[in-house]
Amino acid sequence: MTRHGLKRLVAVSNRVGPVRGAATAGGLAVGLVEALRECGGLWFGWSGKICRSTPGAPHRQQVGGVQLVQVDLAREDYEQYYNGFANLCLWPLLHLRVDLVRYQPGYFDAYLRVNEQFAHALQPLLHADDTIWVHDYHLIPLATRLRELGVPQRIGFFLHTSFPPADLLATLPNHERLMRSLFDYDLVGFQTEPDLLRFRDYVERVACGQVRDGRVSAFGGSVEAAAFPIGIDAHAFAAMASSAVGEREYRRMREALQGRALIMGVDRLDYTKGLLRRLSAYELLLERQPETHGRIEYLQISPVSRAEIRAYREFHAELDHAVARINGRFAQVDWTPLRYLNRALPRRTLAGLYRAARVGMVTPMRDGMNLVAKEFVAAQDPADPGVLILSRFAGAAQQMTSALLVNPYDTGEMADALLAAHHMGVEERRNRHAPLMRELLEHDVKRWREDFLSHLLPSVNPLQVRSRR
Ligand code: G6P
Repeated sequence: MTRHGLKRLVAVSNRVGPVRGAATAGGLAVGLVEALRECGGLWFGWSGKICRSTPGAPHRQQVGGVQLVQVDLAREDYEQYYNGFANLCLWPLLHLRVDLVRYQPGYFDAYLRVNEQFAHALQPLLHADDTIWVHDYHLIPLATRLRELGVPQRIGFFLHTSFPPADLLATLPNHERLMRSLFDYDLVGFQTEPDLLRFRDYVERVACGQVRDGRVSAFGGSVEAAAFPIGIDAHAFAAMASSAVGEREYRRMREALQGRALIMGVDRLDYTKGLLRRLSAYELLLERQPETHGRIEYLQISPVSRAEIRAYREFHAELDHAVARINGRFAQVDWTPLRYLNRALPRRTLAGLYRAARVGMVTPMRDGMNLVAKEFVAAQDPADPGVLILSRFAGAAQQMTSALLVNPYDTGEMADALLAAHHMGVEERRNRHAPLMRELLEHDVKRWREDFLSHLLPSVNPLQVRSRR
């Protein structure tokens, strides 16, 4: 038993991240693995495999004290649940891109079906004193399906993306059924206070429910809802940046730069990340400030993502085109303004590269949190840190107020921020970096996890009265 009174944690997410050698793992994996290891937990999710017919029994594996249980998806379910409802409907909607939503009635049925498949496979594995933590938009209805199977254990849900304004959410067919499912959880967590406020607004205005003290009531049920901003293990990431691998990558990059200042961006190739406008801002800087030519260089690392979806393929092509245009326009025989990679690099390598960068460019049009912003800051040398340029519309901007905050829709403002970061003296860079680092250390991933779990566990919140429909 851990100190929250947690006996065994059961984490459920669509993707089950690497437990060991989490070289390329993102925030979710890093955040959960430690808690799962602490209590010999179970991590349940999709295996990443697609099968032609009905999926067989779940695959079970024990890795580093954590039990992994993964299920395959039938081809049709993969198309309609993952590509369809999750990535062609919910993802764009949650990021304010209603124009990209491609709803089809079959998608919602498949979404419910896969959540049911997950529930049926998970229920027999549960112990009476388990605590269940469900992650992200793929699995909103999971608690409802588990409750239908008689699961009484406490179940929490955390949304890793932002939560959209009520009127946008109301454009989604079946939005009530989707939102009603949240009331089968004991706790619903959001990344930031504004996300929580938008959820409450939906409950009050669209669902005609009520909000009182941390609880929201609607659809005949009630649930505790709060904001739990996710963090990183800032100490560990800083150590990675100065580890042997980090140091090697740092030196390699510095040598390649030959004294030029590095601007760096790392984003999944996704239309929400603001990459086209970011590149336009860089182009504008090169256009307006010819003295920067040969003195700066931009490295954009963008692993291909969700390539079966047309909007992603089109976006990829547009990005390739923008990179070619900028390099074609400004390159000199001995200088290429932009380097662009379409593959993921190990986190240790990234940590070293971040440390070598003068500027970290994190300018999504909308983002739940954005852990690249946090990792960039953690990787810096506190005596000579780089500057973070951060979108106001990333959840991280709520906490990282000493960054250069920009409007990602305004290329002029971003070009100005790039120039300011390029010229910024070491004193101002240190003065901006120190509070950012303090904040990262104070609100790290451990705090995120413990805050969430201590809200979820009744032993810690004895006054919390369970209310269920
Ligand atoms: C976002 C989502 C995660 C998701 C990740 C990668 O960060 O919040 O749930 O796993 O993107 O996307 P993918 O579709 O490849 O899982």
